[in-house]
Amino acid sequence: MDRRNEAAESREGLLRSYDKGERTPMRMSLENAYRSDSESDIDATDFLDRDPLNHQSQPAVQAYGPSIELARLRRSFARRSKCFFAILTILIIFWTVVAGGGFFLYKVAPVDGMSPPWYPTPLGGTSLKWQDSYKKAQALVEKMTLPEKVNITTGTGWQMGLAVGNTGPAIHVGFPGLALQDGPLGLRFADNATAFPAGITVGATWNKELMYFRGKAHGMEARLKGINVLLGPCVGPLGRMPAGGRNWEGFGADPVLQGIAGALTIQGIQEEGIIATIKHFVGNEQEHFRQSWEWGLPNAISSNIDDRTLHEMYGWPFQDAVKAGVASVMCSYQMLNNSYSCGNSKLLNGILKDELGFQGFVQSDWLAQRSGVASALAGLDMSMPGDGLWWGKGQSLWGPELSKAVLNGSLPVSRLNDMVTRVVASWYQLGQDDKSKFDGEGPNFSSWTNDKMGVINPGSPDDRDQKVVNKFINVQGSGDEAHSIIARKVATEGIVLVKNEGILPLSKDGWPTSENHEINMRVGIFGEDSGAGRGPNVCPDRGCNQGTLGSGWGSGAVEFPYLITPAEALLDAFNKDRVYVTNFPSNDPPFKTTPVILKQQDVCIVFVNADSGEGYMAADGIRGDRNDLYIQKDGEGLIVKVALGCGDGQGSTIVVIHSVGPVIMEGWIDIPGVKAVLMANLPGQESGNAIADILLGVVNPSGKLPYTIGKSLEDYGPGAKIQYYPNAAIPQQNFSEGLYIDYRHFDKEGIEPRFEFGFGLSYTTFDYSNLVVSPVLPKSSLPAARTPGIDPPQYDDKIPDASEALLPKGFRKLKKFVYPYITSTSIKKGPYPYPEGYEIKQTPSEAGGDEGGNPDLWNNYATVSVDIKNTGSVTGKEVVQLYLGFDGVKGEAKEIDFPRSVLRNFEKTELESGEKQVVEFNLTRRDLSYWDIVRQNWVMPTEGSITIKVGSSSRDLKLTGWY
Ligand code: BGC
Repeated sequence: MDRRNEAAESREGLLRSYDKGERTPMRMSLENAYRSDSESDIDATDFLDRDPLNHQSQPAVQAYGPSIELARLRRSFARRSKCFFAILTILIIFWTVVAGGGFFLYKVAPVDGMSPPWYPTPLGGTSLKWQDSYKKAQALVEKMTLPEKVNITTGTGWQMGLAVGNTGPAIHVGFPGLALQDGPLGLRFADNATAFPAGITVGATWNKELMYFRGKAHGMEARLKGINVLLGPCVGPLGRMPAGGRNWEGFGADPVLQGIAGALTIQGIQEEGIIATIKHFVGNEQEHFRQSWEWGLPNAISSNIDDRTLHEMYGWPFQDAVKAGVASVMCSYQMLNNSYSCGNSKLLNGILKDELGFQGFVQSDWLAQRSGVASALAGLDMSMPGDGLWWGKGQSLWGPELSKAVLNGSLPVSRLNDMVTRVVASWYQLGQDDKSKFDGEGPNFSSWTNDKMGVINPGSPDDRDQKVVNKFINVQGSGDEAHSIIARKVATEGIVLVKNEGILPLSKDGWPTSENHEINMRVGIFGEDSGAGRGPNVCPDRGCNQGTLGSGWGSGAVEFPYLITPAEALLDAFNKDRVYVTNFPSNDPPFKTTPVILKQQDVCIVFVNADSGEGYMAADGIRGDRNDLYIQKDGEGLIVKVALGCGDGQGSTIVVIHSVGPVIMEGWIDIPGVKAVLMANLPGQESGNAIADILLGVVNPSGKLPYTIGKSLEDYGPGAKIQYYPNAAIPQQNFSEGLYIDYRHFDKEGIEPRFEFGFGLSYTTFDYSNLVVSPVLPKSSLPAARTPGIDPPQYDDKIPDASEALLPKGFRKLKKFVYPYITSTSIKKGPYPYPEGYEIKQTPSEAGGDEGGNPDLWNNYATVSVDIKNTGSVTGKEVVQLYLGFDGVKGEAKEIDFPRSVLRNFEKTELESGEKQVVEFNLTRRDLSYWDIVRQNWVMPTEGSITIKVGSSSRDLKLTGWY
């Protein structure tokens, strides 16, 4: 089977265990057990008709209502074989035991009223910055027929089209189908494209320029491969749980680091004309139970996040993204406050579209849409991949059902027009109507086969039309424009040196004192993570940990065009006349039988790792989220053996860790032989070159930790633990620690981490002095009053004639493909019970007003400058970090609870030995405010002084000033 098809298959529900070679068709079996085996008795129309019951706080299974549910089960039961009953019995027992309450519990309604209603969806087209695009979009949308409009909102189905997500065109007006492709690390499933370092490595560079340039290169590759929409960057998960499976796709466990890196990535991608997608909005912090059925439960977990925490933590980077002009937002799988994110009106209509003034379109994560009309009313604009509640069935919740919903009057035409206009305006906003840049031909590669020839819609058994689907176009750039250059820079600057007892940098010529042309140093390289293993692409979607670790697994991973291993780069980097390098790419080298391989070394470099990924795959016993924070594959054992035995106890051991996040080092870091430790994160294709440059001092390390390295998982606090088992039929996860994750928690509880957030060593030293805070604008509690935006497009919102949506005569339908067409003009009409609160007119938020929220939030209220000097002997880069504290600052009546210090900005600068520079920061109103849950606005404390601290890590804050 083609490897990509394997990946696709596992997307459809096969949780695999590569280590044991076993396949656990978990979701499929449950799904089949629940479903009737007749295609026809689950008509997606049912979902729409029943949709009204599914008001925004209720999940889709709720929507059936008990009698319909029973009838359906009865129908199903009648057809069941004995075998099915056996499976059902097992499942009932499973639910009884695992869901801690039995089968009936699965119908338990989620807590109602935790997420208030917010209707109707604010119209797009209110920001001046989008005015032209909306005008052009309106001119096009006005001419579209109903099926054309529906086509634009609904994916064509899983594996229907060459990209991972595809929409239908509006042919008569010349609007193309759009191709959507992952993801944050590069272009997923593409050949001849770059495997960039992962987000977490980008975060570790703290280098704004690199963040932007990586985004730009990524965007260019997408454009040259015929993609319209990139499914990245990722800023959610934020990193609440250090073992979270997908933390590595984002930039680090802090909203400001995530926000700045995300915004710059978006700027880079969108400058290339590609629609960037900020994801996953919001609260998708763990993989376990993230999605309905994927984990055997009918409903996904609910992330219960309070208003202030949502604004100051999880929503913050999304606000930055909207401010940066991001044209698409992906809503997440799980529920937020017991309402599915993709059907949560408060989240999408209220926060995203009103308060943050988002002008682009909201797309669902793949199958994260759990209701039909309700999700459209709640603010969802595009259903991805278009299939309904099940993978690859083509039973869309929209498509023909959306056409019917418009025709029977349950979905206002105005909402459909807004959905379509948002998509079309985004297309214009990014200049995709420019034929010189976008040929409109769609992707020139296939996500589903490596062969030149293939079918366009492998999801349909009817498509047998072989076409050229892979043109193998090289998009990696060349010469000075090669994207490998930026990939290498990011990988290098993303390495964080956390311990160095005088051993680094090594010299390529070995010890400095000896004569030329004689071997004077022996270097042993150990660990499976140093070598190629079975090659970087051996497992689909990188779903296994073998060889050196360049990326985590899942939709965020890509095919490596090549992967320079640490061993090959180091063998090449040392002067062979003077340094003798040997390599043992195994975690169990033959130390017992050949002790000399350890004893004879002067320097031992050990490569170890820790992997994780997306929850639809399991590898090495890890189902997405890590099981713990330890180094994997007995890497710890290897480090201990090497550290004790290197050079017969006299050698120096250097530990290099490729990891998806923090690892616990307590078992080995204080062994005297361990002289240096480097967190090399997930470096992508240039791995070896990057680490060789740092170890040999070709590049001075300048990475800083984008997360805290604690001494134990417990140290991160109770909220930092993955919920591996359901605690209710609908698993509940309360984010009760609020603002206190990662370093904020360590600071609050006075816990000493092993290495703090923002920490990283250099081969030189820096001196900080002369902090000056200059107020630019006077303090005031609230931002300026909200001003109305420009008028959004207005349409004739008349319901069209049903015949407009009829399947055209002679049209050949592909099985399972999602079309917008209806087959009969007799449309069932009736009263539509709109969600509770639907009729209440909401007052626009005072925190809103334009893209990114109230423009005053982005005004500069103070500048901060600091002098920084390189006091060492070599050139180096320093990350100057600015943190803020509200110590003793009063709100209305009482003191505002605030973490000791929160990051608000950073700048990386390069200084030659002895050089001094002035580094400057702006502080915006939002930077200087907290979210006030009573006033529902950002409030700047005016009593007392806000403390501004500048330094080189979250715990090394050398200078303090006040505003
Ligand atoms: C992931 C998204 C991804 C989508 C398409 C989902 O499972 O959560 O991040 O963009 O698949 O591949």
